[in-house]
Amino acid sequence: MSSLQELKLELKQLGQEYAKIKTLPANERKAFGEAVNAKKNSILAKIKELEESAESANVEPIDLTAPFAENATKYEFKQGTKHPLTIELDRVAEIYRLMGFNVIEARQLDDEFHMFDSLNFPVGHPARDGYDTFRTSEGFIPPAHTSTMQYRALTRFRDHLDEYGQIAVVVPGRVFRNEDVDATHEHTFYQCEGVYVSKDATLGQLLATWKNFFETYYGQQLNIKTQPGFFPFTEPSLEFQIEKPKSLGGKGDGWLEMGGCGMIHPNVLKTAGIDPEIYKGFAWGGGIDRLVMLKYGINDVRYFESGKLAFLKEF
Ligand code: DAH
Repeated sequence: MSSLQELKLELKQLGQEYAKIKTLPANERKAFGEAVNAKKNSILAKIKELEESAESANVEPIDLTAPFAENATKYEFKQGTKHPLTIELDRVAEIYRLMGFNVIEARQLDDEFHMFDSLNFPVGHPARDGYDTFRTSEGFIPPAHTSTMQYRALTRFRDHLDEYGQIAVVVPGRVFRNEDVDATHEHTFYQCEGVYVSKDATLGQLLATWKNFFETYYGQQLNIKTQPGFFPFTEPSLEFQIEKPKSLGGKGDGWLEMGGCGMIHPNVLKTAGIDPEIYKGFAWGGGIDRLVMLKYGINDVRYFESGKLAFLKEF
């Protein structure tokens, strides 16, 4: 059904047809005029019907073509708010920006090369199956992690190595995994990836960088620890944990897994056109939803994608 706005536009456009009548041969004018009149009456009837149904639903019809201020006097407009994850992703990006990182945005549709080949996943290696990736029927991959952006970050900022002696980039983004959904697992969630390359990048710098990020985000000092992990794109690979922040009920004994990290594998640098004999790099990536859940004491990740207004209004 046409909207009130569309109908009013159609009505206005009839003016041109009325104007046309004069230009027609005399014997055609009557029939044409009657047809235009019939059209007009039918539009008017539809407008009346729409307006009455809006009135009966106790809603005062608004003229969508009118300037905003005119309608604003009829309705109490509520200001929308940013989604909590958007607010927090901005905070995350800002912290890294202040630490000197460039921030680029991840993609929501990617391919086999960025998801696997550029990250040193051997063809046919079982690690390719470990990411529960979705695929579109055209063969694209909604990224299962923000690491798909590593190759792009390294190639796009390659000239920073000559200019500034380093590449420093973080990439917040939305990621997708074909997982069963429960209070701690979503098929759609957020991560933030970081890559740093210089002639003398070290694992110590990596741990200090990520620790500094978490301390700034939670506004307090934190203990961290790592344990060995496996990712084809880093060597060595580590899993990174923080001690549950005291301000959030931590008692110095709870460790929380925040993501993976390591020294960038020489093959990843080589694929991106960076000589691993000269340059070294580190990379890290972790979930944003979990970070935010901990900050606000949210106990179910599904709230984020639920569109529940009562939840969203709390932020
Ligand atoms: N992409 C990995 C994941 O989602 C996490 C990760 C591990 C990112 C090691 C990194 C890294 O940048 O170096 O499980």
